[in-house]
Amino acid sequence: MRISLERVGCGFGGQLPLFEELSHDFFPGHKYALTGPSGSGKSTLLSIIAGWMKPTSGTVAIEGITRISWVFQNPHGVGPRTALDHVALPLLAQGHRRVDAEARALALMDSVDLTSVAGRRFRQLSGGEAQRLMLARAIAAAPQLLLVDEPTAQLDPRTGASVNSALQAISANGAIIIVATHDPATRDACTDVLDLGNIGK
Ligand SMILES: Nc1ncnc2c1ncn2[C@@H]1O[C@H](COP(=O)(O)OP(=O)(O)OP(=O)(O)O)[C@@H](O)[C@H]1O
Ligand SMILES: [Mg+2]
Repeated sequence: MRISLERVGCGFGGQLPLFEELSHDFFPGHKYALTGPSGSGKSTLLSIIAGWMKPTSGTVAIEGITRISWVFQNPHGVGPRTALDHVALPLLAQGHRRVDAEARALALMDSVDLTSVAGRRFRQLSGGEAQRLMLARAIAAAPQLLLVDEPTAQLDPRTGASVNSALQAISANGAIIIVATHDPATRDACTDVLDLGNIGK
């Protein structure tokens, strides 16, 4: 399993490129912090790695990865469904019985401090709760590559710490994790840092 960026560049029509000549390899078991000022292209690079956007130049090679989960900067859920349903769904899709899926979903929710809201509807969750729920759901899908955009932006330091340890747990399972972040605590919890503020400028 490997992701390899070779001399990747990206810009939007007529504007200066966000980054250029970016070459980097990503390996299982590593957590990569993608840092840089607002507007430096962190979310854009995540989209390129996910294969949703073509870079303007360079190549992206992805070997041996079929399961990709993504946690967006803005959480998207199904308003009337419970928080627990959101996390149980990928487990049901993997063939687990409902009782097992819900038990595993509750354990994952506990790892991001969400036990108390498991029965609440998605639309009743706070921004930070919804963001952590999306992370628990992404982890439930057992991804080989997990792309996370600003997971702790809306969180207090203690809740942020629970998110960082949930990321650690999935990385220990051999996933590649790439996290766009402004948060020094999340950056420090990663094994590698890729700073877009210092590339191609
Ligand atoms: N589809 C698009 N068309 C034109 N410009 C775009 C498009 N998508 C993003 N941009 C611009 O590219 C720049 C980088 O955006 P991006 O969302 O990747 O930044 P970011 O580093 O994730 O910022 P933040 O920290 O605020 O989330 C921004 O200036 C944005 O306005
Ligand atoms: Mg962004």
